[in-house]
Amino acid sequence: MRFKIALLGGDGIGPEVTAWAVRVLETIGTKRNHNFDFVPVKAGGAAIDEFGEPLPKQTLEAAKSCDALLLGAVGGPKWDSLPGHLRPERALLGLRAGLGVFANLRPAALLPQLKNACPLKDEVLALGSEDGKPAFDMLIVRELTGGIYFGEHGREGSGSEESAYDTERYSRSEIERVLRVAYKAAAGRRKKLCVVDKANVLESSRLWRETAQQISRDYPDIKTEYLYVDNCAMQLVRAPGQFDVIVTSNIFGDILSDEASVIAGSIGMLASASIGSGKGIFEPIHGSAPLIAGKNIANPLAAILSSAMLLKYSCALDAEANAVENAVYAVLDSGFRTSDIASRDGAAAGEKIVGTSEMGEAVLKALNNLL
Ligand code: IPM
Ligand code: MN
Repeated sequence: MRFKIALLGGDGIGPEVTAWAVRVLETIGTKRNHNFDFVPVKAGGAAIDEFGEPLPKQTLEAAKSCDALLLGAVGGPKWDSLPGHLRPERALLGLRAGLGVFANLRPAALLPQLKNACPLKDEVLALGSEDGKPAFDMLIVRELTGGIYFGEHGREGSGSEESAYDTERYSRSEIERVLRVAYKAAAGRRKKLCVVDKANVLESSRLWRETAQQISRDYPDIKTEYLYVDNCAMQLVRAPGQFDVIVTSNIFGDILSDEASVIAGSIGMLASASIGSGKGIFEPIHGSAPLIAGKNIANPLAAILSSAMLLKYSCALDAEANAVENAVYAVLDSGFRTSDIASRDGAAAGEKIVGTSEMGEAVLKALNNLL
């Protein structure tokens, strides 16, 4: 089969990590007789520098004409003082809205190989996990095209009377469609869904909860639970094993997924898929990490795992997606670690601290062996 992939390396470490995701897809193509045509596009800081705007029209058009968008990261200190509508992050919001990807899937699991990189104690990891073993495996489903990110923003007044506002607004249909994505995901997993909101305070959250209570009737074999977001933030570090699928609003999902990434060992490991009506966006959840850009030390595994999600959700190549994941696990098994996932006594434990390119090469080699 032939797939057209828009490629947005972006800023900071984005280009260096997506380069390996591209090599992974090319390897799949060669070995399994598929064609991946990459269409390079610009957005974020790189586009501000070149075109004076974060999301040029031609970038969105190109992304729309492709089967999927593979994205690195955007942003950096160079563009931090620009006004809101010109910041690199606007490009992400424009792409998410423009492609209609309303559901952002962020899997966070503790890989046994990375247990040493997890800051939680074994007793904590065992609490609430199904078999009492220290482990967790959750999927955060974050609403991605609504809520406070897209509500009315503004400023009024001046001097000490100046005020600013951002509006959290959700319609029933926006909530319902992301809930259905989460229920479907739960059906293919451990059949537990936790709806996270702040319904004790926020009207928009009360609509989330009401809608969830209604929709839950369509999924009688899924156990639905409700948690306030503050409690959820606490439960994530108190007993993460209790969670299967979490579904929540745009801003709560943004915050909780960063928290989940730390207990999974490193934000350098977490991939994401943003899906909706058609095309998907696939990106690591880490940012552009300007401090480590260009030093060959960034972890490419989140980008590589994002390419696995792309294979699954945009190409229906599930076996190939599994091969990519297994290649990553094999490389971790053989002790390869970028510095973000190394243990303190790593060398003693047989770990090899490697840079971005050695890690990428190791994955390609493992993948070639698996295909
Ligand atoms: C993320 C990022 C983005 C977000 C930023 C860079 C706009 O933090 O994808 O989690 O808040 O959605
Ligand atoms: Mn974030």
